Amino acid sequence: MVGMIGGGQLARMTAQAAIALGVELRVLASSPDDAAARVSPTVIGDYRSLPDVVAFADRCDVLTFDHEHVPLELLRTLAQMGHGLHPAPEALRFAQDKWAMRERLQHAGIPVPAWRVVTSAVSVSDFAAEHGWPVVAKRILGGYDGRGVWVLPDAAGVTGLLAGSPEEALLVEEFVPLRRELAALLARSPNGEVRAWPLVETVQRNGICVETLAPADDPPASAVPIAVQIAALLEVTGVLAVELFERADGTVAVNELAMRPHNSGHWTIEGARTSQFEQHLRAVLDWPLGDTTATAPVVATANVLGSGDGPLGGRLPGVLAVDPALKVHLYGKEPRVGRKLGHVSALGAGAAAARRRASAGAVALSGASV
Ligand SMILES: Nc1ncnc2c1ncn2[C@@H]1O[C@H](COP(=O)(O)OP(=O)(O)OP(=O)(O)O)[C@@H](O)[C@H]1O
Ligand SMILES: [Mg+2]
Repeated sequence: MVGMIGGGQLARMTAQAAIALGVELRVLASSPDDAAARVSPTVIGDYRSLPDVVAFADRCDVLTFDHEHVPLELLRTLAQMGHGLHPAPEALRFAQDKWAMRERLQHAGIPVPAWRVVTSAVSVSDFAAEHGWPVVAKRILGGYDGRGVWVLPDAAGVTGLLAGSPEEALLVEEFVPLRRELAALLARSPNGEVRAWPLVETVQRNGICVETLAPADDPPASAVPIAVQIAALLEVTGVLAVELFERADGTVAVNELAMRPHNSGHWTIEGARTSQFEQHLRAVLDWPLGDTTATAPVVATANVLGSGDGPLGGRLPGVLAVDPALKVHLYGKEPRVGRKLGHVSALGAGAAAARRRASAGAVALSGASV
């Protein structure tokens, strides 16, 4: 029995892969309305509560995650009690804590943006004097989908951000002039086997990934090897996504790490011989990893974001009528504005056409008037 902590869309899509493999998967969800709780065996509980998580872990052979928000101390306690965790707390720490991640990667000689941890407005100004305005301020723990990331044109507002930060400290970074953003995705099993998928280009709007293109055109040669190096360095088990910035000169820097199936890997469901969800399970179970070869020359995937225009299901037949080759995944979530409610993939021979098709499908489903 594999236990997945978190009942979001990543758990829901992992459950689909578990069914095919004949693997029993149970999720720990906050509510019966969570995306995975609606479709898979579920325990309702709080991932921040030690008794809830221990009771869940006692019923599973191995634990994994659909998010990185379980408190580190709780994870360490579970590991000490003998529960198998993939990734282990000592790896997952670097997906939770942006300060620890920056420090560890820099120490290993892996390229990262210039950064500093600050506890005062003066130290932000000092950093900007060296690296220029704007600077990017980030919460050290707990940010996601751009919440907890601020581009600061000057020092005004820094004091407020520091006061609102539970750590009373922020990570500040140089504002990297981006040519594009990329994601390197791989899986690593406990026995050290590693398999990487082709590099992906990701497109973000307002800090949220809205579109991916696989493979990235003209991929920088260092990107996938950096991810492989990180996986071995941190002894990651399961899927690892390395979000990368590509600078104008073609060099790359690591933005952040996720140690679970990732939004940049949804294309693998139809676009690769082995999906990230199947691979994550295989890695967590220490089974042989699957072939990561792409099944089409290009795969474009667009996220369906809530527009406030009611449930999506009713629009689906119309979208499929327009483009019967689209592959649509809806997550069964309440359609709140800006929320990731599903994704649409288009497989094809040319990037421009695939992107247009995936994005047209996603926009039509969301009901957005753009
Ligand atoms: N130093 C930077 N320079 C330029 N843009 C940045 C920088 N840091 C972050 N961004 C932009 O903000 C986005 C979100 O940043 P980041 O990935 O650190 O935040 P997050 O909320 O933890 O994201 P996620 O949703 O991936 O968990 C990035 O994808 C990028 O578009
Ligand atoms: Mg990110």
